[in-house]
Amino acid sequence: MSVLIAGCGDVGTETGLRLAAAGHRVIGWRRNPQKLPPQLEAVAADLTGDLPTIPDDVRTVIITASAPVREPEAYRAAYLGAARNIAAALTRDAVVPDRVLYVSSTAVYGESRGGVVDESTDPAPPSWRGEVQVEAEALLAEHFAGTGTAFTALRLGGIYGPGRTMLIDRVTSGRAVLPTEPTFTNRIHRDDAAEAIVHLTQRVTDPAALYLGVDTEPAELGDVLRFLAAELGQPVPPTGEVSAQAGSKRCSSAALRATGFTFAYPTYRQGYRAVLAGEGTRHP
Ligand SMILES: NC(=O)c1ccc[n+]([C@@H]2O[C@H](COP(=O)([O-])OP(=O)(O)OC[C@H]3O[C@@H](n4cnc5c(N)ncnc54)[C@H](OP(=O)(O)O)[C@@H]3O)[C@@H](O)[C@H]2O)c1
Repeated sequence: MSVLIAGCGDVGTETGLRLAAAGHRVIGWRRNPQKLPPQLEAVAADLTGDLPTIPDDVRTVIITASAPVREPEAYRAAYLGAARNIAAALTRDAVVPDRVLYVSSTAVYGESRGGVVDESTDPAPPSWRGEVQVEAEALLAEHFAGTGTAFTALRLGGIYGPGRTMLIDRVTSGRAVLPTEPTFTNRIHRDDAAEAIVHLTQRVTDPAALYLGVDTEPAELGDVLRFLAAELGQPVPPTGEVSAQAGSKRCSSAALRATGFTFAYPTYRQGYRAVLAGEGTRHP
Protein backbone atom coordinates (compact mmCIF):
# COMPACT_ATOMS: atom_id res chain seq x y z
CA MET A 1 0.00 0.00 0.00
CA SER A 2 1.53 3.30 -1.07
CA VAL A 3 1.07 6.79 0.30
CA LEU A 4 1.49 9.93 -1.80
CA ILE A 5 2.45 13.13 0.01
CA ALA A 6 1.95 16.14 -2.22
CA GLY A 7 3.94 19.24 -1.21
CA CYS A 8 6.24 17.27 1.06
CA GLY A 9 7.98 19.78 3.36
CA ASP A 10 8.47 19.81 7.12
CA VAL A 11 5.14 18.32 8.20
CA GLY A 12 4.90 16.12 5.09
CA THR A 13 8.38 14.66 5.54
CA GLU A 14 7.84 13.95 9.24
CA THR A 15 4.56 12.24 8.32
CA GLY A 16 6.29 10.30 5.55
CA LEU A 17 9.11 9.12 7.80
CA ARG A 18 6.58 7.80 10.30
CA LEU A 19 4.64 5.99 7.57
CA ALA A 20 7.83 4.58 6.02
CA ALA A 21 8.93 3.32 9.45
CA ALA A 22 5.56 1.54 9.67
CA GLY A 23 6.33 -0.26 6.40
CA HIS A 24 4.54 1.87 3.81
CA ARG A 25 5.99 2.91 0.48
CA VAL A 26 5.91 6.70 0.65
CA ILE A 27 6.15 8.89 -2.43
CA GLY A 28 6.99 12.55 -1.81
CA TRP A 29 6.12 15.17 -4.41
CA ARG A 30 7.75 18.59 -4.38
CA ARG A 31 9.65 20.92 -6.69
CA ASN A 32 12.95 20.18 -4.92
CA PRO A 33 12.84 16.40 -4.40
CA GLN A 34 16.58 16.25 -3.62
CA LYS A 35 15.72 17.67 -0.19
CA LEU A 36 13.78 14.54 0.81
CA PRO A 37 15.39 11.84 2.99
CA PRO A 38 16.17 8.41 1.45
CA GLN A 39 13.28 6.67 3.25
CA LEU A 40 10.91 8.56 0.91
CA GLU A 41 10.60 8.00 -2.84
CA ALA A 42 11.34 11.50 -4.08
CA VAL A 43 9.55 12.71 -7.22
CA ALA A 44 9.90 16.14 -8.84
CA ALA A 45 6.45 17.67 -9.18
CA ASP A 46 5.08 21.18 -9.41
CA LEU A 47 1.53 21.04 -8.07
CA THR A 48 0.59 24.11 -10.09
CA GLY A 49 1.41 22.35 -13.39
CA ASP A 50 1.22 18.95 -15.09
CA LEU A 51 1.55 16.21 -12.50
CA PRO A 52 3.46 12.92 -12.72
CA THR A 53 1.63 9.62 -13.07
CA ILE A 54 0.20 8.38 -9.79
CA PRO A 55 1.06 4.73 -9.10
CA ASP A 56 -2.11 2.62 -9.01
CA ASP A 57 -1.37 1.17 -5.56
CA VAL A 58 -1.67 4.61 -3.92
CA ARG A 59 -4.34 4.26 -1.23
CA THR A 60 -3.67 7.41 0.76
CA VAL A 61 -3.05 10.93 -0.52
CA ILE A 62 -1.90 13.62 1.89
CA ILE A 63 -1.73 17.24 0.72
CA THR A 64 0.67 19.38 2.73
CA ALA A 65 1.96 22.00 0.29
CA SER A 66 2.37 25.52 1.53
CA ALA A 67 2.53 28.76 -0.44
CA PRO A 68 6.09 30.06 -0.84
CA VAL A 69 5.02 33.69 -0.30
CA ARG A 70 2.10 35.41 1.50
CA GLU A 71 0.44 36.79 -1.62
CA PRO A 72 -3.06 36.03 -2.89
CA GLU A 73 -1.97 34.63 -6.26
CA ALA A 74 0.69 32.39 -4.69
CA TYR A 75 -1.89 31.16 -2.18
CA ARG A 76 -4.46 30.41 -4.83
CA ALA A 77 -1.88 28.48 -6.86
CA ALA A 78 -0.37 26.51 -3.97
CA TYR A 79 -3.65 25.57 -2.30
CA LEU A 80 -6.61 25.86 -4.66
CA GLY A 81 -4.69 25.19 -7.90
CA ALA A 82 -2.84 22.28 -6.32
CA ALA A 83 -6.06 20.76 -4.96
CA ARG A 84 -7.67 21.00 -8.39
CA ASN A 85 -4.64 19.49 -10.15
CA ILE A 86 -4.29 16.59 -7.72
CA ALA A 87 -7.98 15.73 -8.02
CA ALA A 88 -7.68 15.86 -11.83
CA ALA A 89 -4.53 13.69 -11.83
CA LEU A 90 -6.28 11.01 -9.74
CA THR A 91 -9.15 10.98 -12.22
CA ARG A 92 -6.74 10.96 -15.18
CA ASP A 93 -4.85 7.94 -13.78
CA ALA A 94 -8.02 6.19 -12.55
CA VAL A 95 -6.60 5.96 -9.03
CA VAL A 96 -9.24 5.81 -6.30
CA PRO A 97 -7.55 6.23 -2.91
CA ASP A 98 -9.27 5.12 0.29
CA ARG A 99 -8.24 8.36 2.00
CA VAL A 100 -7.39 11.89 1.00
CA LEU A 101 -6.31 14.27 3.75
CA TYR A 102 -5.89 17.97 3.08
CA VAL A 103 -3.94 20.05 5.58
CA SER A 104 -5.86 23.29 6.09
CA SER A 105 -5.68 25.99 8.72
CA THR A 106 -7.61 27.46 11.64
CA ALA A 107 -7.19 30.76 9.74
CA VAL A 108 -10.61 29.94 8.25
CA TYR A 109 -12.29 31.08 11.47
CA GLY A 110 -13.30 34.65 12.14
CA GLU A 111 -13.68 34.46 15.91
CA SER A 112 -11.86 37.36 17.52
CA ARG A 113 -13.32 37.62 21.04
CA GLY A 114 -11.85 34.48 22.59
CA GLY A 115 -14.86 32.23 21.89
CA VAL A 116 -14.62 28.45 21.55
CA VAL A 117 -14.24 27.16 17.99
CA ASP A 118 -14.75 23.56 16.95
CA GLU A 119 -15.81 21.51 13.92
CA SER A 120 -19.38 22.81 14.23
CA THR A 121 -18.25 26.44 13.91
CA ASP A 122 -18.93 27.98 10.52
CA PRO A 123 -15.83 29.30 8.81
CA ALA A 124 -15.80 33.09 8.44
CA PRO A 125 -12.35 33.87 7.09
CA PRO A 126 -11.08 37.26 8.24
CA SER A 127 -8.66 37.43 5.27
CA TRP A 128 -7.99 36.00 1.83
CA ARG A 129 -5.67 33.44 3.40
CA GLY A 130 -8.54 31.68 5.11
CA GLU A 131 -10.82 32.18 2.11
CA VAL A 132 -8.46 30.22 -0.13
CA GLN A 133 -8.38 27.35 2.38
CA VAL A 134 -12.17 27.20 2.55
CA GLU A 135 -12.34 27.07 -1.25
CA ALA A 136 -9.69 24.35 -1.52
CA GLU A 137 -11.40 22.23 1.14
CA ALA A 138 -14.77 22.62 -0.61
CA LEU A 139 -13.33 21.76 -4.02
CA LEU A 140 -11.83 18.52 -2.68
CA ALA A 141 -14.89 17.59 -0.59
CA GLU A 142 -17.09 18.01 -3.66
CA HIS A 143 -14.70 16.11 -5.92
CA PHE A 144 -14.52 13.05 -3.66
CA ALA A 145 -18.17 12.99 -2.55
CA GLY A 146 -19.70 9.66 -3.49
CA THR A 147 -16.48 8.29 -5.03
CA GLY A 148 -15.56 5.82 -2.29
CA THR A 149 -12.69 8.03 -1.15
CA ALA A 150 -13.04 9.37 2.40
CA PHE A 151 -11.96 13.01 2.33
CA THR A 152 -10.79 14.76 5.50
CA ALA A 153 -9.65 18.33 6.07
CA LEU A 154 -7.35 18.84 9.05
CA ARG A 155 -7.30 22.49 10.12
CA LEU A 156 -4.01 23.03 11.93
CA GLY A 157 -3.26 25.84 14.35
CA GLY A 158 0.13 27.57 14.36
CA ILE A 159 2.85 24.99 13.87
CA TYR A 160 5.94 25.20 16.06
CA GLY A 161 8.73 22.72 16.57
CA PRO A 162 12.39 22.15 15.85
CA GLY A 163 13.70 25.13 13.90
CA ARG A 164 10.25 26.77 13.99
CA THR A 165 11.06 29.26 16.67
CA MET A 166 9.24 32.48 15.75
CA LEU A 167 8.02 33.21 19.30
CA ILE A 168 11.32 32.11 20.88
CA ASP A 169 13.19 34.43 18.51
CA ARG A 170 10.85 37.29 19.38
CA VAL A 171 11.62 36.83 23.06
CA THR A 172 15.40 36.46 22.66
CA SER A 173 15.62 39.47 20.31
CA GLY A 174 13.59 41.68 22.65
CA ARG A 175 10.84 42.16 20.03
CA ALA A 176 8.16 40.30 22.02
CA VAL A 177 5.20 42.37 23.21
CA LEU A 178 2.54 41.21 25.67
CA PRO A 179 -0.92 42.12 24.38
CA THR A 180 -2.95 44.56 26.44
CA GLU A 181 -6.16 42.55 25.78
CA PRO A 182 -6.44 38.77 26.37
CA THR A 183 -5.49 37.19 23.02
CA PHE A 184 -6.03 33.45 22.72
CA THR A 185 -3.74 31.58 20.35
CA ASN A 186 -3.70 27.97 19.23
CA ARG A 187 -0.75 25.87 18.21
CA ILE A 188 0.45 22.35 17.54
CA HIS A 189 3.91 20.84 17.65
CA ARG A 190 5.13 19.67 14.24
CA ASP A 191 5.45 16.08 15.48
CA ASP A 192 1.87 16.02 16.77
CA ALA A 193 0.67 17.44 13.44
CA ALA A 194 2.46 14.61 11.60
CA GLU A 195 1.21 11.95 14.01
CA ALA A 196 -2.36 13.26 13.73
CA ILE A 197 -2.14 12.83 9.95
CA VAL A 198 -0.83 9.27 10.35
CA HIS A 199 -3.55 8.55 12.91
CA LEU A 200 -6.44 9.93 10.84
CA THR A 201 -5.34 8.28 7.59
CA GLN A 202 -4.19 4.89 8.93
CA ARG A 203 -5.86 4.16 12.27
CA VAL A 204 -9.28 5.79 12.29
CA THR A 205 -11.73 3.51 10.51
CA ASP A 206 -14.39 6.04 9.66
CA PRO A 207 -12.87 9.54 9.81
CA ALA A 208 -15.07 12.63 9.82
CA ALA A 209 -14.79 15.19 7.02
CA LEU A 210 -13.19 17.73 9.32
CA TYR A 211 -10.91 17.90 12.36
CA LEU A 212 -9.18 20.72 14.16
CA GLY A 213 -5.50 20.03 14.77
CA VAL A 214 -4.50 22.06 17.81
CA ASP A 215 -3.06 20.98 21.15
CA THR A 216 -5.18 20.60 24.26
CA GLU A 217 -4.76 24.14 25.59
CA PRO A 218 -5.64 27.34 23.77
CA ALA A 219 -3.29 29.78 25.45
CA GLU A 220 -3.12 33.49 25.94
CA LEU A 221 -0.26 34.86 23.89
CA GLY A 222 0.95 36.78 26.93
CA ASP A 223 1.19 33.56 28.99
CA VAL A 224 3.18 31.82 26.23
CA LEU A 225 5.60 34.75 25.95
CA ARG A 226 6.01 35.00 29.73
CA PHE A 227 6.67 31.23 29.87
CA LEU A 228 9.30 31.44 27.13
CA ALA A 229 10.96 34.43 28.76
CA ALA A 230 11.19 32.52 32.06
CA GLU A 231 12.57 29.38 30.35
CA LEU A 232 15.13 31.47 28.47
CA GLY A 233 16.13 33.56 31.48
CA GLN A 234 15.00 36.70 29.67
CA PRO A 235 13.16 39.69 31.16
CA VAL A 236 9.35 39.72 30.94
CA PRO A 237 8.51 41.43 27.62
CA PRO A 238 6.82 44.84 27.72
CA THR A 239 3.06 45.27 27.21
CA GLY A 240 1.82 47.04 24.09
CA GLU A 241 -0.33 46.97 20.97
CA VAL A 242 -0.21 43.63 19.13
CA SER A 243 -1.61 43.04 15.65
CA ALA A 244 -4.58 40.71 16.16
CA GLN A 245 -4.19 39.21 12.68
CA ALA A 246 -5.04 35.69 13.84
CA GLY A 247 -7.99 36.91 15.94
CA SER A 248 -8.52 35.55 19.42
CA LYS A 249 -10.14 32.14 19.54
CA ARG A 250 -10.04 29.01 21.62
CA CYS A 251 -9.90 26.09 19.19
CA SER A 252 -10.88 22.67 20.51
CA SER A 253 -9.27 19.39 19.49
CA ALA A 254 -11.83 17.35 21.44
CA ALA A 255 -13.01 15.62 18.24
CA LEU A 256 -9.47 14.57 17.30
CA ARG A 257 -8.88 13.28 20.83
CA ALA A 258 -12.20 11.40 20.73
CA THR A 259 -10.76 9.30 17.87
CA GLY A 260 -8.12 8.01 20.31
CA PHE A 261 -5.39 10.46 19.39
CA THR A 262 -2.98 11.40 22.14
CA PHE A 263 -0.58 14.33 22.00
CA ALA A 264 3.14 13.91 22.61
CA TYR A 265 3.09 17.63 23.47
CA PRO A 266 -0.37 18.36 24.95
CA THR A 267 0.46 22.01 25.69
CA TYR A 268 2.97 24.64 24.65
CA ARG A 269 4.90 24.03 27.85
CA GLN A 270 5.96 20.45 27.00
CA GLY A 271 6.43 21.36 23.33
CA TYR A 272 8.57 24.44 23.79
CA ARG A 273 10.66 22.72 26.49
CA ALA A 274 11.47 20.02 23.89
CA VAL A 275 12.31 22.66 21.27
CA LEU A 276 14.50 24.57 23.73
CA ALA A 277 16.24 21.27 24.63
CA GLY A 278 17.15 20.95 20.93
CA GLU A 279 15.03 17.85 20.29
CA GLY A 280 14.36 16.98 16.65
CA THR A 281 15.21 18.73 13.39
CA ARG A 282 13.20 20.76 10.92
CA HIS A 283 12.89 19.02 7.57
CA PRO A 284 14.01 21.30 4.71
N1 LIG B 1 2.89 27.35 9.36
C1 LIG B 1 1.84 27.22 10.12
O1 LIG B 1 1.82 27.64 11.27
C2 LIG B 1 0.62 26.53 9.56
C3 LIG B 1 -0.59 26.67 10.21
C4 LIG B 1 -1.70 25.99 9.72
C5 LIG B 1 -1.58 25.19 8.60
N2 LIG B 1 -0.38 25.08 7.95
C6 LIG B 1 -0.29 24.19 6.79
O2 LIG B 1 0.51 23.09 7.13
C7 LIG B 1 0.97 22.46 5.93
C8 LIG B 1 2.38 22.00 6.11
O3 LIG B 1 3.22 23.08 6.31
P1 LIG B 1 4.80 22.88 6.47
O4 LIG B 1 5.18 23.62 7.67
O5 LIG B 1 5.18 21.47 6.33
O6 LIG B 1 5.29 23.70 5.19
P2 LIG B 1 6.69 23.64 4.47
O7 LIG B 1 7.75 23.05 5.34
O8 LIG B 1 6.91 24.99 3.89
O9 LIG B 1 6.43 22.59 3.31
C9 LIG B 1 5.61 22.84 2.24
C10 LIG B 1 6.17 22.18 1.02
O10 LIG B 1 5.34 22.50 -0.09
C11 LIG B 1 6.15 22.38 -1.22
N3 LIG B 1 5.55 23.17 -2.29
C12 LIG B 1 5.24 24.48 -2.29
N4 LIG B 1 4.75 24.84 -3.50
C13 LIG B 1 4.75 23.70 -4.25
C14 LIG B 1 4.38 23.43 -5.59
N5 LIG B 1 3.92 24.37 -6.41
N6 LIG B 1 4.53 22.17 -6.05
C15 LIG B 1 5.02 21.20 -5.24
N7 LIG B 1 5.37 21.39 -3.96
C16 LIG B 1 5.25 22.64 -3.48
C17 LIG B 1 7.52 22.94 -0.83
O11 LIG B 1 8.57 22.21 -1.46
P3 LIG B 1 9.30 22.75 -2.80
O12 LIG B 1 9.65 24.18 -2.54
O13 LIG B 1 10.47 21.84 -2.95
O14 LIG B 1 8.31 22.59 -3.89
C18 LIG B 1 7.57 22.65 0.67
O15 LIG B 1 8.47 21.65 0.97
C19 LIG B 1 0.73 23.46 4.82
O16 LIG B 1 -0.41 23.03 4.11
C20 LIG B 1 0.41 24.74 5.56
O17 LIG B 1 -0.46 25.57 4.82
C21 LIG B 1 0.71 25.73 8.41
